[in-house]
Amino acid sequence: MTKRIICLFGPQGSGKGTQAKILTAQLHIPHISTGDLFRAAIASRAELGKQVEGILNKGELVSDELTFNLLKERISQNDCKAGFILDGYPRTLTQAQLLDDFMNVDVVIVLEISDAESLKRLTNRRQDSITGAIYNLYTVPKPPKEIERRLIQRADDTAEAIEKRLKKYHQQTEPLFLYYKNKVIRVNGEQSIERVAGDIERALVL
Ligand code: AP5
Repeated sequence: MTKRIICLFGPQGSGKGTQAKILTAQLHIPHISTGDLFRAAIASRAELGKQVEGILNKGELVSDELTFNLLKERISQNDCKAGFILDGYPRTLTQAQLLDDFMNVDVVIVLEISDAESLKRLTNRRQDSITGAIYNLYTVPKPPKEIERRLIQRADDTAEAIEKRLKKYHQQTEPLFLYYKNKVIRVNGEQSIERVAGDIERALVL
């Protein structure tokens, strides 16, 4: 069986998580978000969670070594045998090199949106505290009336933390487009969720 490793890149709020969920359903390979792995460790009050909580909330990056070790453990699991979709990894050159020493990425999809759009989407992102579904008060999908009361906001979705996260993306992650060169496919992320998914589907020739 050929392993398929797809990386989703893009500024904060560009829709990496949203599109990864769609791709997972189409390709039947898992969606692996390092941000989700860290947040799960924080929620379960694991030792790792205590180490990284302050870093995430401030919009800083967790160390390359800690992040790679967490990822390596996850992608070594059985459900990743046929491949996986990476959301939020790698974010630095060191992380890309660590992954390359372990296994090679096939394709890198970059979802392009402006910083202004990113700020607008993230300050309005909300999550259902029971189902984990993601909504948006400004864009789409809008939350149904009956669940409005149980919506929560991510601790790092504040204007201050978003600004820091975007700065890190431009400084440390964008240079990776050159590192992956001919594996990079750029997609306009400022379209409807369905149109972005359609562009990705055509680019991957699913
Ligand atoms: P992480 O959880 O990965 O956050 P992020 O990179 O900031 O990305 P987001 O989850 O904010 O955005 P997204 O692109 O997934 O957008 P979404 O689909 O939700 O990382 C969090 C933290 O963990 C990092 O800051 C760092 O501290 C740490 N970390 C993680 N990985 C690390 C690493 N490799 N190294 C070191 N540290 C690491 O969409 C956003 C909103 O827009 C939603 O409300 C959605 O409904 C809406 N939306 C989506 N698509 C559209 C569309 N086309 N049109 C309109 N609205 C849309």
